[in-house]
Amino acid sequence: MATKFFDHKKIERNVTLLAALSLVVVAIGGIVEIAPLFWIDNTIEKVEGMRPYTPLEQAGRNIYVREGCYNCHSQMIRPFRDETERYGHYSLAAESMYDHPFQWGSKRTGPDLARVGGRYSDEWHVQHMIDPRAVVPESIMPPYAFLARRDLKQGDMSRDLTALSRVGVPYTKEDIAKANDDLKAQADPNADTADLLKRYPKAQVRDFDGDPNRLTEMDALVAYLQMLGTLVDVESAKPQEVQR
Ligand code: HEC
Repeated sequence: MATKFFDHKKIERNVTLLAALSLVVVAIGGIVEIAPLFWIDNTIEKVEGMRPYTPLEQAGRNIYVREGCYNCHSQMIRPFRDETERYGHYSLAAESMYDHPFQWGSKRTGPDLARVGGRYSDEWHVQHMIDPRAVVPESIMPPYAFLARRDLKQGDMSRDLTALSRVGVPYTKEDIAKANDDLKAQADPNADTADLLKRYPKAQVRDFDGDPNRLTEMDALVAYLQMLGTLVDVESAKPQEVQR
């Protein structure tokens, strides 16, 4: 018989040895999982269409996080048939590359929202937020009617964008300087938004909450929801050629 390199009897009877060797095994597993993330640029395949969020979408996202919508909603469609048939194309890593913090979530009391953009009208969203049971009678979602009453605190979106750019979101100096104006312009049907659209392709410009005279938290949240999953044309998005 060949000598046994791993003498299990010995290992299992010596707690210290067992703990030390377990640590080695776990460490190897950990490195295999964690190390690729140090080269995150290689980990996320770039796809066409993905861009940083507009200030209004970002403000809506802040409200989404503030209200804890992630407690009931995920934003990650997994590559399984039941999920893709219900929610659409599975989520690509690049689609959440500008999310800080990410909103993948692990709880689905309500449906996944990664591709909810464009699925309903703005009016539907507003009504649903004010009184979910008015549009979905069996809904157990809490109402958020106050969002329509509260003016969007415009604060300083430039600072918000600056913070995001520090963690790698590629906002330009111009984007940051114009953030507060962009915020208002996107929800104003009369604003000149050619410049906004050049910097943020596919940005949806209109009054979102049904009250064009006011910029409310509802405007921002609906703008955010209507953008989700609409930036990347997933059917035609092909991973970039792998260089060998
Ligand atoms: C207590 C859990 C809960 C919370 C918190 C919650 N939701 Fe929901 N949500 C649900 C449930 C359940 C549904 C499915 C029934 C319905 O459409 O109302 C739903 C449905 C939705 C839908 C429709 C999705 C679809 O594809 O039909 C949207 C959009 C939505 N929620 C947005 C939000 C937003 C934004 C917030 C935070 C402001 C939020 N939800 C907070 C439970 C929740």
